[in-house]
Amino acid sequence: MKKISQDWREQVLSWLKENVSAHRIEHILGVESTCIQLAKLHGISLEKAAQAGLLHDLAKFFPPQKLLKMANKANLKVDPICQNHPHLIHADVSAVVAKKEFGIKSKGVLEAISNHTLGNPQMSDLSCLVYIADSIEPNRGDSPELAKIRQLATQNLYQATWATSDYTLNYLISDRKVIHPRTVLTRNWALSKSLSSND
Ligand SMILES: [Fe+2]
Ligand SMILES: [Fe+2]
Repeated sequence: MKKISQDWREQVLSWLKENVSAHRIEHILGVESTCIQLAKLHGISLEKAAQAGLLHDLAKFFPPQKLLKMANKANLKVDPICQNHPHLIHADVSAVVAKKEFGIKSKGVLEAISNHTLGNPQMSDLSCLVYIADSIEPNRGDSPELAKIRQLATQNLYQATWATSDYTLNYLISDRKVIHPRTVLTRNWALSKSLSSND
């Protein structure tokens, strides 16, 4: 397996230092290491998991107008909810930046970056892994709910994706935030996959 070049990783980190907060970099590094740990457990490419983890939040701090402009330029479909809450498209725009600035060609890595916030029904194992890692990385803290998802993540990616979606939905409801239907679709898909899988 090809290792990620240290130079390439340093380039990404120095770009991140210019474009996101120090606190966000801690989160990103937590997602990267969680992705690597889970990839080892589930037989997924460590290189792709590490890349997707490191690059998933590139556009996290882009202002709303910049997100919309870049999405438009890349011909991304922006639905009315995302139009009103452009922050939701930081995932898709991060994939655009990953491709343009950091030469990522792997469709799987780009999709995993795009899917990290809202998930996607039928998403790949790599996408599930990044979606889960974004919620459970160590800097997210400790709670019984997170402990349960962390345990599930070591055993079954579908069950952990289902639990991550429920966790996100609970947070959105208690914080009176808008729910994008893709989170619900992802939850229902992961639920049905969980019931039909017992690995
Ligand atoms: Fe994000
Ligand atoms: Fe994130």
